[in-house]
Amino acid sequence: MAQNWTPNSWRQKPIQQVPDFPDLAALNATEAQLTTYPPLVFAGEARRLKSQLANVSEGKGFLLQGGDCAESFAEHGADTIRDFFRAFLQMAVVLTFGAQQPVVKVGRIAGQFAKPRSSNIEKQGDVELPSYRGDIINGIEFNEKARIPDPERQIMAYRQSAATLNLLRAFAMGGYANLENVHQWMLGFVKDSPQAERYRKLADRISETMDFMKAIGITSENHPSLRETDFFTSHEALLLGYEQALTRVDSTSGDWYATSGHMIWIGDRTRQPDHAHIEYCRGIKNPLGLKCGPSLTGDGLIELIDLLNPQNEAGRLTLICRFGHDKVAEHLPRLIRAVEKEGRKVVWSCDPMHGNTITLNNYKTRPFERILSEVESFFQIHRAEGTHPGGIHIEMTGNDVTECTGGARALSGADLADRYHTHCDPRLNADQALELAFLLAERMKGGRDEKRMVVNG
Ligand code: PEP
Ligand code: CO
Repeated sequence: MAQNWTPNSWRQKPIQQVPDFPDLAALNATEAQLTTYPPLVFAGEARRLKSQLANVSEGKGFLLQGGDCAESFAEHGADTIRDFFRAFLQMAVVLTFGAQQPVVKVGRIAGQFAKPRSSNIEKQGDVELPSYRGDIINGIEFNEKARIPDPERQIMAYRQSAATLNLLRAFAMGGYANLENVHQWMLGFVKDSPQAERYRKLADRISETMDFMKAIGITSENHPSLRETDFFTSHEALLLGYEQALTRVDSTSGDWYATSGHMIWIGDRTRQPDHAHIEYCRGIKNPLGLKCGPSLTGDGLIELIDLLNPQNEAGRLTLICRFGHDKVAEHLPRLIRAVEKEGRKVVWSCDPMHGNTITLNNYKTRPFERILSEVESFFQIHRAEGTHPGGIHIEMTGNDVTECTGGARALSGADLADRYHTHCDPRLNADQALELAFLLAERMKGGRDEKRMVVNG
């Protein structure tokens, strides 16, 4: 057990990004109420995820983590969840084939509600209001009332998370995630894509593999692993009062777990080693993510690893690197070298979203080619350093939104206004997300072929 740690020891530390709740009595009452609610996930599931991530850290798997930047109360519905899950599973199949390794599937979903903001104030014209901080805290509407932090929203976020998780579990275990279904959806995507020719080769090889398995009698009827899938949830552990209320002792191990999601991560703005967010996270046993941005030094990273993973447990810590396509080559190598020098076990994941945001026609957007370029550099750098590029972390939706430019359909700045629905950052739409998976799978396969040639050379 972590030394001198309790679920509320973070309250003694300095803290960033806290909302200004005007009614503290109401906040306390809500947190007390949440402590009586059932956990959303079980410790055993978090341990299972950790063991899968341990494989990734040893180079034997790939992590796919993705979903909304910010879930919203307004967009909560079965279709949105289904469409996300559908796109996500297709990506996972394509990446499994590309990597020839198991893909660990972790959604940014069923709890991803609280947002760190660069500014406390949003200004529109002459009017200044407190910034929107995610639906779990205040409302996105630009008026004074909506922007007042309201604790009651935590209860709504908890209930929405429970409902979302319930449907995801049903999809994952109830037959919807059947590999044959996912394969058919993927073929539909390829057929309709302007890049159909390019993706067909890989899609055909997946189809041949499926036919081969069927021919030798491996079907979803006799192999549950073809009709069921492990799917885990994750979110940023930003609103610590909410997290604390859902922190529970696991009766089998006696350890503390965050039960708000399987994996939680620490944002780039709240990773000060002596502050509250690190304090809370060090004491729970879930797998953790740590966002690593340009300001993080090699020594700073080792200090954080000492706090978050003092036992050097494989699968405990995923480093989610988010530098920007033009900065990754400058910053990533020093972090890899520091970790390698100290022999720390980590999963290296690439978030190609948060360092690549630009403003175009008054919309925050991300050009697809920069997203792809950051992931490609991430892969190249790991290859050069001899380490495992273990995963990607993306903001995406299953809906046909127009939030990121580029991709096979060449969305332009002028298209952004059409279907710009995000409550926070711009997400890849379903087509763009799948394209990214295809392009990465192609490169992973290329990398393997190259290695094979060297070995057989
Ligand atoms: C996020 O993942 O939505 C986020 C805010 O990321 P970061 O902490 O890396 O800026
Ligand atoms: Co975001």
